[in-house]
Amino acid sequence: MEINLKGKRVLITSSTKGIGKELAKVFLKEGCKVVITSRNKQNVNLALEELRQISSNDVFGLTSDLTDYNSLSKLVNDTINLLGGIDVLVVNSGNTPKEPSTMLENSIEDWEHATRLFLLGPVYLSTLVSKYMIEQKWGRIIFISSWTIKEPQDFFSLADVTRASLIQFTKLLARELGKYGITVNVLLLGSFPTETSIKTLHKIAQKLGMHFDELWNKYVIDVSAVKRVGNVEKDLGPLVIYLSSEYSSYVTGSYFLIDGGTTRAI
Ligand SMILES: NC(=O)c1ccc[n+]([C@@H]2O[C@H](COP(=O)([O-])OP(=O)(O)OC[C@H]3O[C@@H](n4cnc5c(N)ncnc54)[C@H](OP(=O)(O)O)[C@@H]3O)[C@@H](O)[C@H]2O)c1
Repeated sequence: MEINLKGKRVLITSSTKGIGKELAKVFLKEGCKVVITSRNKQNVNLALEELRQISSNDVFGLTSDLTDYNSLSKLVNDTINLLGGIDVLVVNSGNTPKEPSTMLENSIEDWEHATRLFLLGPVYLSTLVSKYMIEQKWGRIIFISSWTIKEPQDFFSLADVTRASLIQFTKLLARELGKYGITVNVLLLGSFPTETSIKTLHKIAQKLGMHFDELWNKYVIDVSAVKRVGNVEKDLGPLVIYLSSEYSSYVTGSYFLIDGGTTRAI
Protein backbone atom coordinates (compact mmCIF):
# COMPACT_ATOMS: atom_id res chain seq x y z
CA MET A 1 0.00 0.00 0.00
CA GLU A 2 1.44 3.34 -0.99
CA ILE A 3 0.11 6.53 0.52
CA ASN A 4 0.68 9.69 -1.44
CA LEU A 5 0.02 12.94 0.41
CA LYS A 6 2.31 15.04 -1.75
CA GLY A 7 1.02 18.60 -2.03
CA LYS A 8 -1.73 18.15 0.60
CA ARG A 9 -2.29 21.37 2.56
CA VAL A 10 -2.05 20.79 6.29
CA LEU A 11 -2.81 23.10 9.22
CA ILE A 12 -1.54 21.90 12.62
CA THR A 13 -2.31 23.96 15.69
CA SER A 14 -0.06 24.23 18.76
CA SER A 15 2.87 22.94 16.76
CA THR A 16 6.00 24.90 17.61
CA LYS A 17 7.08 22.35 20.23
CA GLY A 18 6.50 18.79 21.34
CA ILE A 19 4.05 16.50 19.58
CA GLY A 20 2.68 19.16 17.20
CA LYS A 21 6.14 20.02 15.89
CA GLU A 22 7.05 16.35 15.47
CA LEU A 23 3.83 15.83 13.49
CA ALA A 24 4.74 18.79 11.28
CA LYS A 25 8.00 16.96 10.46
CA VAL A 26 6.05 13.81 9.59
CA PHE A 27 3.82 15.71 7.12
CA LEU A 28 6.76 17.58 5.59
CA LYS A 29 8.56 14.29 4.98
CA GLU A 30 5.44 13.13 3.08
CA GLY A 31 5.73 16.17 0.78
CA CYS A 32 2.85 18.15 2.29
CA LYS A 33 2.61 21.92 2.66
CA VAL A 34 2.30 22.73 6.34
CA VAL A 35 1.25 25.71 8.46
CA ILE A 36 2.41 25.55 12.08
CA THR A 37 1.03 27.78 14.84
CA SER A 38 1.41 28.81 18.44
CA ARG A 39 0.85 31.91 20.58
CA ASN A 40 4.43 33.11 20.61
CA LYS A 41 6.12 34.55 17.51
CA GLN A 42 9.58 33.68 18.73
CA ASN A 43 8.56 30.04 19.23
CA VAL A 44 7.05 30.05 15.73
CA ASN A 45 10.28 31.38 14.24
CA LEU A 46 12.48 28.90 16.13
CA ALA A 47 10.33 25.99 14.99
CA LEU A 48 10.30 27.26 11.41
CA GLU A 49 14.08 27.38 11.41
CA GLU A 50 14.20 23.70 12.42
CA LEU A 51 11.42 22.55 10.09
CA ARG A 52 12.86 24.36 7.06
CA GLN A 53 15.81 22.00 7.26
CA ILE A 54 13.40 19.27 6.15
CA SER A 55 11.72 21.29 3.43
CA SER A 56 12.58 24.95 3.06
CA ASN A 57 9.66 26.02 0.85
CA ASP A 58 6.79 24.01 2.25
CA VAL A 59 6.42 25.19 5.84
CA PHE A 60 4.87 28.42 7.09
CA GLY A 61 4.23 29.79 10.56
CA LEU A 62 1.42 31.87 12.05
CA THR A 63 0.71 33.05 15.57
CA SER A 64 -2.67 32.08 16.98
CA ASP A 65 -4.20 31.26 20.36
CA LEU A 66 -6.61 28.35 20.57
CA THR A 67 -8.47 30.11 23.40
CA ASP A 68 -9.02 33.31 21.35
CA TYR A 69 -11.78 32.81 18.75
CA ASN A 70 -10.88 35.94 16.74
CA SER A 71 -7.36 34.68 16.31
CA LEU A 72 -8.77 31.36 15.05
CA SER A 73 -10.87 33.04 12.32
CA LYS A 74 -7.78 34.97 11.28
CA LEU A 75 -5.72 31.77 11.33
CA VAL A 76 -8.11 30.05 8.92
CA ASN A 77 -8.16 33.02 6.52
CA ASP A 78 -4.38 33.46 6.65
CA THR A 79 -3.77 29.74 6.12
CA ILE A 80 -6.07 29.68 3.10
CA ASN A 81 -4.27 32.72 1.70
CA LEU A 82 -0.91 31.03 2.20
CA LEU A 83 -1.76 27.50 1.03
CA GLY A 84 -4.80 28.08 -1.20
CA GLY A 85 -6.96 25.80 0.99
CA ILE A 86 -6.83 23.26 3.81
CA ASP A 87 -7.01 19.50 3.16
CA VAL A 88 -5.98 18.26 6.59
CA LEU A 89 -6.63 19.96 9.93
CA VAL A 90 -4.82 18.58 12.96
CA VAL A 91 -6.12 20.20 16.14
CA ASN A 92 -3.47 19.81 18.79
CA SER A 93 -3.78 21.78 22.05
CA GLY A 94 -1.29 23.08 24.55
CA ASN A 95 -1.65 22.37 28.24
CA THR A 96 -3.36 24.28 31.04
CA PRO A 97 -0.81 26.14 33.17
CA LYS A 98 -2.72 24.97 36.26
CA GLU A 99 -2.19 21.25 35.77
CA PRO A 100 -1.26 19.02 37.48
CA SER A 101 -4.12 19.96 39.78
CA THR A 102 -6.93 18.20 41.59
CA MET A 103 -10.63 19.07 41.30
CA LEU A 104 -10.74 21.21 44.43
CA GLU A 105 -7.62 23.13 43.44
CA ASN A 106 -9.24 24.34 40.22
CA SER A 107 -10.89 27.77 40.13
CA ILE A 108 -13.80 28.59 37.83
CA GLU A 109 -11.33 30.61 35.73
CA ASP A 110 -9.20 27.47 35.33
CA TRP A 111 -12.28 25.59 34.11
CA GLU A 112 -13.15 28.37 31.67
CA HIS A 113 -9.63 28.42 30.26
CA ALA A 114 -9.49 24.63 29.94
CA THR A 115 -12.90 24.58 28.24
CA ARG A 116 -11.71 27.09 25.64
CA LEU A 117 -8.40 25.29 25.11
CA PHE A 118 -9.60 21.69 24.92
CA LEU A 119 -13.18 22.04 23.69
CA LEU A 120 -14.47 25.39 22.40
CA GLY A 121 -11.33 26.41 20.47
CA PRO A 122 -11.18 23.02 18.70
CA VAL A 123 -14.96 23.12 18.08
CA TYR A 124 -14.85 26.62 16.62
CA LEU A 125 -11.75 26.03 14.49
CA SER A 126 -12.95 22.75 13.04
CA THR A 127 -16.37 24.23 12.27
CA LEU A 128 -14.75 27.10 10.35
CA VAL A 129 -12.45 24.77 8.42
CA SER A 130 -15.31 22.33 7.70
CA LYS A 131 -17.05 25.03 5.65
CA TYR A 132 -14.06 25.27 3.31
CA MET A 133 -13.69 21.49 3.17
CA ILE A 134 -17.38 21.14 2.19
CA GLU A 135 -16.77 23.41 -0.83
CA GLN A 136 -13.83 21.27 -1.97
CA LYS A 137 -15.72 18.05 -1.10
CA TRP A 138 -12.75 16.51 0.69
CA GLY A 139 -11.10 16.89 4.05
CA ARG A 140 -9.58 15.23 7.08
CA ILE A 141 -9.97 16.54 10.63
CA ILE A 142 -7.93 14.94 13.41
CA PHE A 143 -8.13 15.96 17.06
CA ILE A 144 -5.27 15.16 19.42
CA SER A 145 -6.48 14.08 22.85
CA SER A 146 -5.38 11.74 25.63
CA TRP A 147 -5.99 8.17 26.85
CA THR A 148 -6.82 9.75 30.22
CA ILE A 149 -10.28 10.77 29.03
CA LYS A 150 -11.19 7.08 29.16
CA GLU A 151 -9.62 6.57 32.58
CA PRO A 152 -9.54 10.05 34.14
CA GLN A 153 -6.50 10.76 36.27
CA ASP A 154 -6.55 12.78 39.51
CA PHE A 155 -4.10 15.45 38.36
CA PHE A 156 -5.53 15.94 34.85
CA SER A 157 -9.07 16.85 35.89
CA LEU A 158 -9.27 20.03 33.77
CA ALA A 159 -8.13 18.30 30.60
CA ASP A 160 -10.00 15.04 31.15
CA VAL A 161 -13.38 16.60 31.90
CA THR A 162 -13.30 19.18 29.11
CA ARG A 163 -11.80 16.87 26.49
CA ALA A 164 -14.39 14.14 26.97
CA SER A 165 -17.07 16.19 25.16
CA LEU A 166 -14.89 16.47 22.09
CA ILE A 167 -15.64 12.81 21.40
CA GLN A 168 -19.37 13.57 21.17
CA PHE A 169 -18.60 16.55 18.97
CA THR A 170 -16.43 14.37 16.72
CA LYS A 171 -19.15 11.77 16.29
CA LEU A 172 -21.80 14.34 15.41
CA LEU A 173 -19.54 16.42 13.15
CA ALA A 174 -18.50 13.23 11.35
CA ARG A 175 -22.18 12.45 10.68
CA GLU A 176 -22.78 15.88 9.20
CA LEU A 177 -19.63 15.93 7.06
CA GLY A 178 -19.51 12.33 5.83
CA LYS A 179 -21.50 13.03 2.67
CA TYR A 180 -18.92 15.61 1.61
CA GLY A 181 -15.97 13.22 1.78
CA ILE A 182 -14.73 14.68 5.06
CA THR A 183 -13.70 12.47 7.98
CA VAL A 184 -13.33 13.48 11.62
CA ASN A 185 -11.44 11.40 14.18
CA VAL A 186 -9.79 11.69 17.60
CA LEU A 187 -6.47 10.26 18.73
CA LEU A 188 -6.09 9.31 22.39
CA LEU A 189 -2.39 9.44 23.11
CA GLY A 190 -0.45 7.60 25.78
CA SER A 191 2.97 8.84 26.92
CA PHE A 192 4.98 10.70 24.29
CA PRO A 193 7.73 12.39 26.31
CA THR A 194 8.11 16.11 25.61
CA GLU A 195 9.73 18.87 27.64
CA THR A 196 6.31 19.82 29.03
CA SER A 197 5.15 16.29 29.81
CA ILE A 198 8.40 15.55 31.70
CA LYS A 199 8.03 18.80 33.68
CA THR A 200 4.45 17.85 34.54
CA LEU A 201 5.55 14.42 35.76
CA HIS A 202 8.20 16.06 37.96
CA LYS A 203 5.47 18.24 39.52
CA ILE A 204 3.26 15.18 40.12
CA ALA A 205 6.18 13.30 41.72
CA GLN A 206 6.69 16.26 44.03
CA LYS A 207 2.99 16.39 44.94
CA LEU A 208 2.98 12.66 45.69
CA GLY A 209 6.28 12.78 47.58
CA MET A 210 7.84 10.26 45.18
CA HIS A 211 11.15 10.19 43.34
CA PHE A 212 10.74 10.95 39.64
CA ASP A 213 12.25 7.58 38.63
CA GLU A 214 9.81 5.70 40.85
CA LEU A 215 6.85 7.59 39.39
CA TRP A 216 8.15 7.12 35.85
CA ASN A 217 8.52 3.34 36.26
CA LYS A 218 5.27 2.81 38.16
CA TYR A 219 2.88 5.20 36.38
CA VAL A 220 4.36 5.55 32.89
CA ILE A 221 6.27 2.38 31.97
CA ASP A 222 4.73 -0.41 34.08
CA VAL A 223 1.13 0.61 33.33
CA SER A 224 1.72 0.15 29.60
CA ALA A 225 1.49 -3.27 27.98
CA VAL A 226 4.60 -2.72 25.89
CA LYS A 227 6.72 -1.32 28.76
CA ARG A 228 7.87 1.75 26.90
CA VAL A 229 6.77 5.24 25.90
CA GLY A 230 5.69 6.31 22.43
CA ASN A 231 7.66 7.97 19.65
CA VAL A 232 5.80 10.48 17.50
CA GLU A 233 7.51 9.69 14.22
CA LYS A 234 7.40 5.90 14.56
CA ASP A 235 4.24 5.24 16.56
CA LEU A 236 1.89 8.16 15.95
CA GLY A 237 3.00 9.46 12.55
CA PRO A 238 1.92 6.42 10.49
CA LEU A 239 -1.61 6.51 11.94
CA VAL A 240 -1.91 10.25 11.33
CA ILE A 241 -0.72 9.78 7.74
CA TYR A 242 -3.22 6.94 7.20
CA LEU A 243 -6.06 9.06 8.63
CA SER A 244 -5.03 11.93 6.32
CA SER A 245 -5.13 9.73 3.24
CA GLU A 246 -7.65 8.33 0.74
CA TYR A 247 -7.42 4.91 2.41
CA SER A 248 -9.24 6.08 5.54
CA SER A 249 -12.41 7.37 3.83
CA TYR A 250 -14.57 4.76 5.66
CA VAL A 251 -13.06 5.64 9.06
CA THR A 252 -14.85 8.54 10.69
CA GLY A 253 -16.38 9.51 14.02
CA SER A 254 -13.85 7.19 15.66
CA TYR A 255 -11.30 7.47 18.38
CA PHE A 256 -8.02 5.60 18.44
CA LEU A 257 -5.94 4.69 21.47
CA ILE A 258 -2.21 4.98 20.76
CA ASP A 259 -1.04 4.27 24.26
CA GLY A 260 1.03 1.10 24.20
CA GLY A 261 -1.85 -0.77 25.81
CA THR A 262 -2.07 1.50 28.86
CA THR A 263 -5.86 1.91 28.86
CA ARG A 264 -7.71 -1.04 30.36
CA ALA A 265 -11.22 0.32 29.83
CA ILE A 266 -13.05 -1.01 26.77
N1 LIG B 1 3.12 14.48 25.71
C1 LIG B 1 2.30 13.50 26.07
O1 LIG B 1 2.71 12.44 26.57
C2 LIG B 1 0.82 13.66 25.86
C3 LIG B 1 -0.03 12.59 26.15
C4 LIG B 1 -1.40 12.73 25.93
C5 LIG B 1 -1.90 13.93 25.42
N2 LIG B 1 -1.05 14.96 25.18
C6 LIG B 1 -1.60 16.21 24.69
O2 LIG B 1 -0.95 16.59 23.49
C7 LIG B 1 -0.88 18.01 23.40
C8 LIG B 1 0.56 18.40 23.11
O3 LIG B 1 1.37 18.01 24.19
P1 LIG B 1 2.93 18.36 24.21
O4 LIG B 1 3.51 17.57 25.33
O5 LIG B 1 3.51 18.22 22.85
O6 LIG B 1 2.88 19.91 24.61
P2 LIG B 1 4.04 21.02 24.49
O7 LIG B 1 5.36 20.39 24.21
O8 LIG B 1 3.89 21.88 25.69
O9 LIG B 1 3.63 21.86 23.21
C9 LIG B 1 2.50 22.63 23.22
C10 LIG B 1 2.46 23.54 22.00
O10 LIG B 1 1.23 24.24 22.06
C11 LIG B 1 1.45 25.65 21.98
N3 LIG B 1 0.36 26.25 22.76
C12 LIG B 1 0.19 26.23 24.10
N4 LIG B 1 -0.96 26.86 24.43
C13 LIG B 1 -1.53 27.28 23.25
C14 LIG B 1 -2.70 27.98 22.93
N5 LIG B 1 -3.54 28.43 23.86
N6 LIG B 1 -2.96 28.24 21.63
C15 LIG B 1 -2.12 27.82 20.65
N7 LIG B 1 -0.99 27.15 20.90
C16 LIG B 1 -0.69 26.88 22.20
C17 LIG B 1 2.86 25.85 22.52
O11 LIG B 1 3.49 27.03 22.02
P3 LIG B 1 3.30 28.52 22.65
O12 LIG B 1 3.64 28.41 24.10
O13 LIG B 1 4.25 29.37 21.86
O14 LIG B 1 1.87 28.90 22.42
C18 LIG B 1 3.55 24.61 21.96
O15 LIG B 1 3.92 24.81 20.61
C19 LIG B 1 -1.40 18.55 24.72
O16 LIG B 1 -2.71 18.98 24.57
C20 LIG B 1 -1.32 17.36 25.65
O17 LIG B 1 -2.29 17.40 26.67
C21 LIG B 1 0.29 14.84 25.38
